[in-house]
Amino acid sequence: MRRSIVHEGAGQLTYEIREIVAVAKKMEAVGLSVTWENIGDPIQKGESFPSWMKEILADLVAEDASYAYSDTQGIRPTRQFLADLVNARGGCQITGDDILFFNGLGDAVAKVFGFLRREARVIGPSPAYSTLSSAEAAHSGYDHLTYRLDPSRSWLPDLDDLEAKVKYNDAVAGLLLINPDNPTGVVYERDFLERMVDIARRYGLFVIADETYANITYNGAKPCSLSQVLGGVPGLSLRSISKEYPWPGARCGWIEVFNKNENPEFRRYIDSLLAAKRLEVCSTSLPQLTIPRIMGDPRYPAHLERRRELFGSRARQAFAALDGIPGVKVILPQGALYFTVLFEPGALDGDRSLPPANAEVGALVSGLVDRVAPDKRFVYHLLASTGICTVPLTGFCSDLPGFRMTLLETDDAKREWIFQTVAQALRTYLS
Ligand SMILES: Cc1ncc(COP(=O)(O)O)c(C=O)c1O
Repeated sequence: MRRSIVHEGAGQLTYEIREIVAVAKKMEAVGLSVTWENIGDPIQKGESFPSWMKEILADLVAEDASYAYSDTQGIRPTRQFLADLVNARGGCQITGDDILFFNGLGDAVAKVFGFLRREARVIGPSPAYSTLSSAEAAHSGYDHLTYRLDPSRSWLPDLDDLEAKVKYNDAVAGLLLINPDNPTGVVYERDFLERMVDIARRYGLFVIADETYANITYNGAKPCSLSQVLGGVPGLSLRSISKEYPWPGARCGWIEVFNKNENPEFRRYIDSLLAAKRLEVCSTSLPQLTIPRIMGDPRYPAHLERRRELFGSRARQAFAALDGIPGVKVILPQGALYFTVLFEPGALDGDRSLPPANAEVGALVSGLVDRVAPDKRFVYHLLASTGICTVPLTGFCSDLPGFRMTLLETDDAKREWIFQTVAQALRTYLS
């Protein structure tokens, strides 16, 4: 090639949640029975799409309008419906024109970071959901800039660390937060969110809040949306039906833009996202059409409440199984669909292993565990020994060792088996 054709950020595009699948598939091919605890797809883990929602979908499938393109921003009445939901919360008031649909938040994230000026950096949490951290890193061509979520404070961000990094790096133009958080399950209450927004206000940053799990909070969480505390700070919220209906295969997410007209630079940036979407014409129409009918249905609040209780009780179940094991730390999640186990400093030192399920799996794992991070080494051994496929925490833009599993297993006996088997494996591995 007479010129390099590889983007400066190409090396930053990592997604451990799916990369572990290739390893697990190899082990499956030599007889390992794999339990997929790596990916947050409720449907794949056995949750059924509610039948009343299927009926709404069936009605829409029968309507010709469902097969047309939509406005670039998305279906107009759906955008108005979502704007009304935002406005009813109090705080920032928006119109349907402040909403822009994407083909899933994956698409939204690619645009949000892809159309940001390269020198403008967005600081985000560590650990972090890797789609966000990788997209920011790829856009800049450097490692993602992060602030620390502090496990000694139930995974709340270390605001001194955040402020210092913002203050001494004038490339930072945006602040990213995930609320409720993936992978830690921390939920920011109003006071805390106000303090984060205050940092953004004082240093002239815009705020990106990933609120994918906004309606999946439990165990005493007092959730608060960005729009309720943002005041006049420019910001955007990322939302999706993937985890909430749940319908991840719909690839339907949207951004809610706040205070676009408060700042000409922010307005130009948001306009560029719309212009980029225009080149693609629009996002998929059918899932958008379901939103007013499903979210506006009188059965929807009860549906959300049932799932809050369900995931709250599964989080407590995981906590009961894994709390108190020497060498690990667990924190009871208050939101989202995951459970993170953290290793205490030094716990993984030394040459540790677990008995593999069979000799071929053993041969595979021994070829993998050299030269990988210590938590990934545990994840590989856990997989080879028990078939339980989790994701190392160092795959979430973090230098804290640990791993993430999910709260999604629908079979009660199997879920208890997963938590107990992981607990037993930890005891053996760390003894
Ligand atoms: C925090 C967070 N944001 C965004 C997404 C992506 O959602 P979507 O299915 O809309 O692309 C996920 C998916 O797991 C997530 O956990």
